[in-house]
Amino acid sequence: MSSGVRSHTVPQADRVAMTLPRLHEMKENGEPIVMVTAYDYPSATVAEAAGVDLVLVGDSAANVVLGYERTDLVSMEEMIMLGKAVRRGLRTPLMIADMPMGSYEASDELAVLSAQRLIKETGAQTVKLEAGGVSARRAKAIVEAGIPVMGHLGLTPQTATALGGYKAQGKSAAAAIRMYEDALALQEAGCFAIVFEAVPAEIAATIAERLDVVTIGIGAGAGTSGQVLVFHDLLGITTGHMAKFVKQYADVHAEMTTAVARYAEEVRGGSFPGPEHVYAIDEEELAEFRRHVDDEALASAKSWEWEPLS
Ligand code: KIV
Repeated sequence: MSSGVRSHTVPQADRVAMTLPRLHEMKENGEPIVMVTAYDYPSATVAEAAGVDLVLVGDSAANVVLGYERTDLVSMEEMIMLGKAVRRGLRTPLMIADMPMGSYEASDELAVLSAQRLIKETGAQTVKLEAGGVSARRAKAIVEAGIPVMGHLGLTPQTATALGGYKAQGKSAAAAIRMYEDALALQEAGCFAIVFEAVPAEIAATIAERLDVVTIGIGAGAGTSGQVLVFHDLLGITTGHMAKFVKQYADVHAEMTTAVARYAEEVRGGSFPGPEHVYAIDEEELAEFRRHVDDEALASAKSWEWEPLS
C-alpha cells in the first residue's frame, strides 16, 4: 500500500459472509473483530468495501443522521427505514439492528415481537438491546424465539439520563461488579456478543477475559474481542463535541462543505455547467425544432391579431 500501512483486509472478492460460528472463532483465535455503524445505503456500501466484520444499524442514527438530541427519541419506523437501506448495501458483514427504546423493556412478548419485526422488515440477522437487569430476561426471550442478540453495557445512551449523563461507567469497584454480573446474565441469556461502552480499559479487559461470548468495545480499551465506532464520528462527518474514545480518521464534513461551497460559487459565477456536462443534439434536429417553435410563435401572434374584440 502506498501509505506504508500493511493491510489486514481480505480482498473483496475473497470475502465470505460473516456467521456467528466464524465470529466466535475469531474471538478464540484472538483475531480483532471490526464493527462499524451504518444508517443508509452509501454507508453500508463503504462498510462492505472496507471489509468490516459487523455492521450495526445503531440508534445513534437519532443523533448523527436524524438530528435528534438523544437516542431514545428515534422510533421503530425510523430504525426500520434506515435498516432496510443498510441491508441493500451489505453482502458479507453480519448485520445487527438496534432495538429502539420502548420496543423491548415492557415485556418478553413485546421484546420478541419487536425483534421479529426488525429482522423481517430490515433483513438484519441479529438485534442489539441495551443494559442489564430486565434486559437480560428480554434477551433470553428473543434468543429463545430464534433471534441472535447482542447486549450492550456500560454507558447505555437510551438510559443516559438515569445514569447521570454521558459519562464513563464502572469506575468504582461496586459499579464494575454490577457490570460483571450483568455481563454474566447476558451471556447466560444466550447473547452472542456484548458491547462495552465508556468503561475503564482494565475493567472491560478483566470482564472480557472471563466471558465466553464475543466482546466489543467502544471507549473500553483494547482488551475486548473487537472494536466499534460510529461511522459519522470516525469519518469526521459529525460536528461538535466528540467523546474521548472517538478517533477521527478523516474530515469528511470539511471536505463536503468545501465541495458544496465550490459548486455554489461555480453556479453563481456561470462556470458550471461547462460544455462537458451538457448533452449534444444533431444540428439539423435542432434547426427543425427551432423552426417549429418559431412558426408556432408566429401563428399564435397572428391568431391574437385577428381575434375579434368582445
Ligand atoms: O447506537 C450505536 O451506535 C451503538 C454503538 C455505539 C455500539 O449502540
